[in-house]
Amino acid sequence: MLDEILNKIQECNNLDQLETIRVETLGKKGSLTQEFAKMKTIPGPEKKAFAENLNKQKAAVTEALDEKKVVLEKEALEIKLQSEKIDVTRFNNELSCGATHPVVETMNRIITYFQNLNFAVEEGPLVEDDFHNFEALNLPKYHPARDMQDTFYNKDYTLLRTHTSPVQIRTMLSQSTPIRMIAPGTVFRRDFDITHTPMFHQIEALVVEDGDHISFANLKHVLVEFLHHMFGDVDVRFRPSFFPFTEPSAEVDISCVFCKGDGCRVCSHTGWLEVLGCGIVDQNVFKAVGYEGKSGYAFGLGVERFAMLIHSIGDLRSLFESDTRLIGQFK
Ligand code: PHE
Repeated sequence: MLDEILNKIQECNNLDQLETIRVETLGKKGSLTQEFAKMKTIPGPEKKAFAENLNKQKAAVTEALDEKKVVLEKEALEIKLQSEKIDVTRFNNELSCGATHPVVETMNRIITYFQNLNFAVEEGPLVEDDFHNFEALNLPKYHPARDMQDTFYNKDYTLLRTHTSPVQIRTMLSQSTPIRMIAPGTVFRRDFDITHTPMFHQIEALVVEDGDHISFANLKHVLVEFLHHMFGDVDVRFRPSFFPFTEPSAEVDISCVFCKGDGCRVCSHTGWLEVLGCGIVDQNVFKAVGYEGKSGYAFGLGVERFAMLIHSIGDLRSLFESDTRLIGQFK
């Protein structure tokens, strides 16, 4: 029996099989273990020789198993090393290219549109002061937007700009009319849910000329053309609204791009989607920058909202999760 077992061990060529042999011989119900059980029935004088013989067999099998195990483990490791070998000199023919993030892509599209209409691109700091972000924009001291609840304030009373409108103020203070500018950039508000993130992007526009000939008709024409460029054949409507820095002010809606105006979940069954805010620049704003007697219009839009409507993205937060599967869809 011993020879048979040792032979089996010798011929075994994988670790699972070796374990099976171990169980079959030395396990609780193994053949050698069972031989030990026979001890009880062996008459006294023969017991010693029987036990010695069995112990020798057991030792031989154990040793053979241990030796084989070392050999097989080494072989398994070799195979693993071979199969996982990386040839660092190999040339990769698969080109993987990146994609532009939908927010950046949408922003670029809007910027290009207005650059073609001769609008200059202006920038301003992200850390603003009360004057540029609120005061000069005719936001009174008691205005709720100034509340700690809505605005990130720093210890030194600077703040993270809550909109791109302060760039209007900076541009008017540093340049002279005529002004025709857009200000794309990051803005910050203390908000976080499916439709709000603490950081998002806006594009602001401002047109100012001497005299009083800039009218709401100019603003309306530019916006209707722009919205058709971005969303195709949609209806556009202007709804009276309020912003401290424009008078009159309006919010602009387009007919729902998902249900074509019939009413669906995205447009809350109204058939309309709000896309931007606009108006004729309030004279109080002009007063703050020494522009009395001039006329102009301004508007501001949320880039994420545009990107979501254009690409049917449901949750605003997914734009900021850095999941490459989302971006991969925009290659
Ligand atoms: N600043 C406004 C906002 O953040 C948008 C706006 C800009 C409205 C310019 C009118 C004119 O909501």
